[in-house]
Amino acid sequence: MCGIVGYIGKKEALPVLLAGLKRLEYRGYDSAGVAVIGEKVQLAKSPGRIFKLEKVLEGKNFSGNVGIAHTRWATHGKPTKANAHPHIGCNDDFLIAHNGIIENYLELKSELLGKGHKFRSQTDSEVFAHLLEEEFKHYHNFEASFKSAISKIRGAYGIIAISKKDKEKILIAKKSSPIVIGVGKNEHIIASDLSAVIGYTKDVIHLSDDEIAVCESDGVRISNLKNEAVGKKARKVEYSLEEAEKGNFETFMKKEIFESPEVIKNAIRGRLLEEEGTAKFGGLEEAGERLKNVKRVMIVACGTSYYAGLLAKYWFSDLTHLHTDVEIASEFKTGNIDIESSDLVIAISQSGETADTLGAVREAKKRGALTMGIVNVVGSAISQETDIGIYNHAGPEISVASTKAFISQATVLALLTIFFARQKNMSLKEGKDLMREISGLYAKVGQVLGQQKTIQEIAEKYAKYKNFIFLGRKYNFPIALEGALKLKEVSYIHAEGYAGGELKHGPLAMIDKNFPVFCISTKGSVYDKMLSNMEEIKSRGGKVICVATAGDKKLENIADDVVYVPRSSEMLSPILAVVVTQLFAYFLARVLKRDIDKPRNLAKSVTVE
Ligand code: F6R
Repeated sequence: MCGIVGYIGKKEALPVLLAGLKRLEYRGYDSAGVAVIGEKVQLAKSPGRIFKLEKVLEGKNFSGNVGIAHTRWATHGKPTKANAHPHIGCNDDFLIAHNGIIENYLELKSELLGKGHKFRSQTDSEVFAHLLEEEFKHYHNFEASFKSAISKIRGAYGIIAISKKDKEKILIAKKSSPIVIGVGKNEHIIASDLSAVIGYTKDVIHLSDDEIAVCESDGVRISNLKNEAVGKKARKVEYSLEEAEKGNFETFMKKEIFESPEVIKNAIRGRLLEEEGTAKFGGLEEAGERLKNVKRVMIVACGTSYYAGLLAKYWFSDLTHLHTDVEIASEFKTGNIDIESSDLVIAISQSGETADTLGAVREAKKRGALTMGIVNVVGSAISQETDIGIYNHAGPEISVASTKAFISQATVLALLTIFFARQKNMSLKEGKDLMREISGLYAKVGQVLGQQKTIQEIAEKYAKYKNFIFLGRKYNFPIALEGALKLKEVSYIHAEGYAGGELKHGPLAMIDKNFPVFCISTKGSVYDKMLSNMEEIKSRGGKVICVATAGDKKLENIADDVVYVPRSSEMLSPILAVVVTQLFAYFLARVLKRDIDKPRNLAKSVTVE
């Protein structure tokens, strides 16, 4: 989950590498480093953010046309200068940056120590630099040494290496950690994700697992681990640099929340069959009859994507009559979960690179299930490894806290629910009504965003509290969980999500005047029960903030503060309510002056288990 950048071409490498690092900083931000090879090898590292690295670089002459850089999120070893990448071996012949975990590093390290190598860091990654040195003693060739070293490591890696023994090349290898190569005119920009590349070129090669690339300024050669050439061409990507930038917003999180109407339009574009009251997905067609014959659905995901999955479990169970379970991806891998070949396993992931979710996909495939990815990042590992898939088309999500991806996932899952339900017993009329509502959903979300001032005022009023409960029932229970997660992540305030029915089984004991409860009380089959919950809280002196359906003035007599969302079907109300919880978390974190886009201790893409 660190970020890697590499450059080879005619330009000065340093400015390209630093600009790339800044775009990747959300992937990890506890230390950073850069290496450039010109007349000599130049290496600089610093703990902390990239601006600290820039300070270290002030007044230094880092001239050269080939270089690599890295921004780190610590897995092995503290966030110190010594542990920052790029790493070198005993001398500076080889410089490497690595993303992932080398699982057999202890074994390799002890062999290398035995051969006299001296280590400078506590990282697993440094082993690779020493391994390269060792291999070079046999092969006297950078490329051959790199390939041999790769064959000796186990685990997950995106690795990039340069060498003063062969200054005209960058060598790259990938396994379970994303790497893209931007192909420009006589230059290549290599990175862990597109946002570092698209400012230079839209022609991109996505490396697949077990591929090795040799990048020179005028060409790329790709081979597999057996050293066979892999014919891979660059593909045009659709993201614009502007899409990956903040525009007029203070933070990416706010920008991304405000992109929600557009995100909904992109998620449904070309997928609505309004007259037939259903949806179509190009990416599912190849599964044909197998999809129709699915008996059971298992959804796997992590964090926010898991909550989107939980919402879908309710929808699938109520409307498609398909037996549906949802499992946290890391638990899916460890548990003895019963999966059969007639099952459909749906992996939901914004990044498409989350190690736990990818691991669950692999496990499901091993057991013969049909696998489907609902993924935002095109070409990512989960999108490549699942049998069938649906892309979110939500554009890059830069803020570590996921917002627009949830909206997009929920929209796609609503369409998928109708797609399955219409194959079972949902009537044409019901399908048409829901499809019509989904096509107008973006405008309703726009109306919720129009309430930002009210939500901001409420958030500011509650910023002094240290604990919150988020409460919802049925379709809004996952929103309560997601609302609590968002608040924790960006404001560092303790919050818990509960199903309304659970309140009196324990959490009610915590309620007093210092413990506000955020209730999602929109109109629907559980509305009366939510009213009872709100009364229970008020009678214990607790404060209530609630999300209500437009026109429901009754709630103003119970709740301390109310935010209204437009009328909608019960099924789609969570997509409106979640936007209120996102803005509430955002504005509260803003009052507390948190680093909203980069919450402490977190990283955007969790590519380690
Ligand atoms: C929360 C958040 C995380 C991610 C989780 C899964 O705001 O962003 O909980 O949802 O790490 O990530 P993806 O969806 O990329 O698999």
